[in-house]
Amino acid sequence: MLSPIHHTFGPHVDREAMRKILAVSFAPNRYVQGKSTEELRVALSKKIGGDASLFASGRESLLALLKAMNLRSGEEIIVQGYTCVVVPNAIHAAGGVPIYADIDEATLNLTPESVAVCITPRTRAVICQHTFGMVADTKGLRVLCDLHNILLIEDCAHVIPDDSGPKEIGTLGDAIILSFGRDKAISGITGGAVITRKPDLGAAIRSLESSAIDLSWHEVTTLLTYAPRMRWIVRPLIWCGLQKPILALLNAIGLFSPILTEDEREGHMSPLLRKLPNACAALALHSLSRLKEINDHRRMLTAFYLEEGKKRGWPLLLAIRSDLPLQKFPLFVSNAKEKRALLRKDNIHLDDGWTGCVVCPDTVDLDEAGYASGLDPNAEKVCRAILSLPTHLTMTMKQAKVLVERIGMLLG
Ligand SMILES: Cc1ncc(COP(=O)(O)O)c(C=O)c1O
Repeated sequence: MLSPIHHTFGPHVDREAMRKILAVSFAPNRYVQGKSTEELRVALSKKIGGDASLFASGRESLLALLKAMNLRSGEEIIVQGYTCVVVPNAIHAAGGVPIYADIDEATLNLTPESVAVCITPRTRAVICQHTFGMVADTKGLRVLCDLHNILLIEDCAHVIPDDSGPKEIGTLGDAIILSFGRDKAISGITGGAVITRKPDLGAAIRSLESSAIDLSWHEVTTLLTYAPRMRWIVRPLIWCGLQKPILALLNAIGLFSPILTEDEREGHMSPLLRKLPNACAALALHSLSRLKEINDHRRMLTAFYLEEGKKRGWPLLLAIRSDLPLQKFPLFVSNAKEKRALLRKDNIHLDDGWTGCVVCPDTVDLDEAGYASGLDPNAEKVCRAILSLPTHLTMTMKQAKVLVERIGMLLG
């Protein structure tokens, strides 16, 4: 049986990551506090350029930034249709209103034109997402934001550039949001950062970080079980479904931490900010030290899918370039949901939570998220037709070859 092809079963957890996780696990006195947090802060400040503050997730990093901006009730933040619910949740938690601007089908990103029509006197910022590592028009958005005196926030949860680029990402924003989540650009199992080039804002966010609460030792332990759970239970057993009772058991004994809570799916986020635990900082730092390797692997698979797609006449997104370290490689197909169900029978799991929904995942309450049906037609079209192929570190070229053959058969 082919080892599973997937997006979400520990995409960063290879042997090297596992070795680091075990090393970190054997230092239980440094789970919550230690020197890795400061080391990560210094590394990120240097890499991205600006004041870095660290929190327990990307969503909390965004919330801290919005709190530091002192949003007044009713003030607006422009986000794109086709985003994760945690983004509008953070805006709501900070007292703001998310305004959904439509995306360009070729880039899955905002455009200056789609943003311009959403700007009002209440607009305070634009969050530009670089969806799946595709480059958004930051130059155009920068001009627009300067014209209206509003902040440009680059959400780099899906991509962190390295020496080989993409140079357009992370350079023009007033603030950069990073996530160290399980399937993001780099991973610390959980965690996030906000880096800003505005000193006043940076100081306000650092003060919010100082008063943030620590995760408990038990919570960090639970997070550290993620890697062995994925590597030794989910990946080997997913083909026969046996992972389910084992995960249910782990859940019952409190050794499970979901990426999204029920409250978050329903459009609510706690206003509490939590510090990045030292163990997760150590893992994120290790992952950051492997950024070139991680991105080069993504570039290799992006180039492979692109070449195969061209040869096979697949409907490819115009913005995809072979030098991009895509977090995943999007295709548009008809009956995408049915195709994913067929692929599952071959142990190919392409469900990534970014399908069939403008505010993801598809179980989100759109009213609570503040999205009205019909608002962003491109985003609605894209999310129905999207089928994304994995590019992560644990996806091998051998698996990619199997995947393109299988998809080739499905697309005819
Ligand atoms: C585009 C985007 N921004 C921000 C986040 C928040 O990251 P985190 O999961 O670390 O809170 C996510 C997470 O799914 C995301 O997809």
